[in-house]
Amino acid sequence: MSKVLIADKADALCEKVLKDRGLDVTVKTGMKPEELKAFVAPFDAIIVRSASKITREIIEAAKNLKAVARAGAGVDNIDIPAASEHKVLVMNTPFGNTVSTGEHAIAMMFSMARMIPQANASTHAGKWEKSKFEGVELTGKTLGVVGCGNIGAVVADRAKGLKMNVIVFDPVMTAERARELGVKMVTLDELYAKADFITYHVTINPATKGMINKDTIAKMKKGVRLINCARGAIMVEADIKAAIESGHIAGLACDVYAEEPPVNHPFFGMEKVICTPHIAASTKDAQVTVARQAAEQIADFLLTGKRTHAVNGDKI
Ligand code: MLT
Repeated sequence: MSKVLIADKADALCEKVLKDRGLDVTVKTGMKPEELKAFVAPFDAIIVRSASKITREIIEAAKNLKAVARAGAGVDNIDIPAASEHKVLVMNTPFGNTVSTGEHAIAMMFSMARMIPQANASTHAGKWEKSKFEGVELTGKTLGVVGCGNIGAVVADRAKGLKMNVIVFDPVMTAERARELGVKMVTLDELYAKADFITYHVTINPATKGMINKDTIAKMKKGVRLINCARGAIMVEADIKAAIESGHIAGLACDVYAEEPPVNHPFFGMEKVICTPHIAASTKDAQVTVARQAAEQIADFLLTGKRTHAVNGDKI
């Protein structure tokens, strides 16, 4: 019987689906890298979210490993080249948490526009700071969406419903897709020059790493507000901090960090920064969907060879 390890907290449906398909399932979460390395040898497949890092070392220690499934979209916690070299198929669930992540970005935008977290904390503290919390409207403002794949498209669609003017930069987006979504495609420089709010929905790669830095910030409108529910490494944190302090950036809503969990992060304690702990995809709805999908993908692959959303399928 094939053995599957669920190495990160996932909805209970993940274990149930695998067991119903006749697989031998072990749930062991919260392992440190060394512990995981010592534990993985017998498993044919591993299911992770974002906490466990499936590094080259882990892959090499997992002598029986045939597949890794990521219950989520990003696969940056899995060493894909190492997996390919060892003929380990990597799959993700790219659509399962799209709506939740898009909705979180919209919630972050509202929170920032009206300073809701700050006003909530102030009111709970017994204060009545009405004039301090004068916000801005979203209606009629321009939202720049950087990266308009599954999640960016949800954000663009909801923002149009809020009567925002939506402009999009996405180097692989077709004109037809832009027409379908009813958004205007622009260059990144144009987006920076026009947007009142900018939301990022990109994966981490050499082109996006550090893409929010002092040079790109200088191209943005004074008073811009940024939302990052994508990946922490797209930000040069010191440059953003300096731009907030100078007033060039009016606000930042941040769900992701270069190192997670962040320790003594430069944004902590900044009044104009709203921080959440990488929870954009953390809804019951999304977690049930990604847990079920990851389990089905692993069961299909181990039992029938069927591949769904294989990230390195061409190498295996
Ligand atoms: C993803 O890559 O799917 C999201 O960042 C959500 C997550 O990591 O939980």
